[in-house]
This record gives sequence, C-alpha cells and structure tokens, in this order.
Amino acid sequence: MVEVRIRVNGAVTTLDLQPQVSLLDALREHLGLTGTKKGCDQGACGACTVLADGERINSCLALAVQYTDREITTIEGLAAGESTRALREAFVEHDGFQCGYCTSGQLCSAVGMLAEHAAGAPSVVTEHLAGHAELSEAEIRERMSGNLCRCGAYNGIVTAIRQVAT
Ligand code: FES
Repeated sequence: MVEVRIRVNGAVTTLDLQPQVSLLDALREHLGLTGTKKGCDQGACGACTVLADGERINSCLALAVQYTDREITTIEGLAAGESTRALREAFVEHDGFQCGYCTSGQLCSAVGMLAEHAAGAPSVVTEHLAGHAELSEAEIRERMSGNLCRCGAYNGIVTAIRQVAT
C-alpha cells in the first residue's frame, strides 16, 4: 500500500492504495465519484476523461499515485460550478447524448478542449489550415475524436460545443 494525497474537486483526501490502482478506480471505488465512467479501460473510448490541472486525461490510463497533489476535476466538480452551465445546457438543448454513458467524458473533454484552443494549442486541422483561428466543426470533431459515443450523437455534441465556443 502507498499513501496517496489526492485533491479532487477542491477536496483533499488521503487514500491507502495499491500502487497499480488507476486514477479511474480511485475515483469510482475509493471516493464514490461514479460520474466518471469506465468503458474500455484501455484508453480507447474517452468515457473516463477527467481534468488534471485543467488538462484532459484518460483516467483509466493514469495511476492514482502519479496524481498526488494535482488538481483533479470530475464531472461532479463541473456540475457543481457555474462556469460550465452554458455547455451543459447546450448538450441538453441539442441532444448531445442518447444513453448518456459517454456524456461525463464528453463534457470534461470539451472543457479541456476549449481551454486548449483558447491557449492556442494547435490541432491537426489548424496545422492544415494555417492561420485559421475559428474553432470550426472539423476542428471540434478532430479535437474531440478521443471521445466515442456508441449512440452516434456526434452532431448534437458538436453543435453544442460550437454554440458555446462562438
Ligand atoms: Fe478510459 Fe475507455 S475507459 S478510455
């Protein structure tokens, strides 16, 4: 066992964990934060996306011990704040989900993606379209391509993000 001081949604907790416990399992099974979903558990679907110091990560690929004293934000943290209300409401307005299983990952990823874009981080699309500053539909799709939706609600997801981004 190792002692892990973990800061999630502003609250600090110390957990005794096996060193191989993923951040995803620490959140769900040790902290009861089940809003973060487990899909593939191997970094392919994005259902487990959370923010670490504002950057989106697949929590299934992260060891909890690596995130000592980092600021982790989960969907519970986003839902408690006002700053993401417009994005959450846009998902509802534009049917950015069907079953909802991927939605917490989609929302966390969208928040991280919008921050990346605001900071000027390039994407494949922006590198291809040099000098094209607008967050286009193609760019949103490329930047969100790590988050799968088995219901196929992509049009609603992209429309919701575009509404907030513009
Ligand atoms: Fe982590 Fe699928 S559960 S990427």
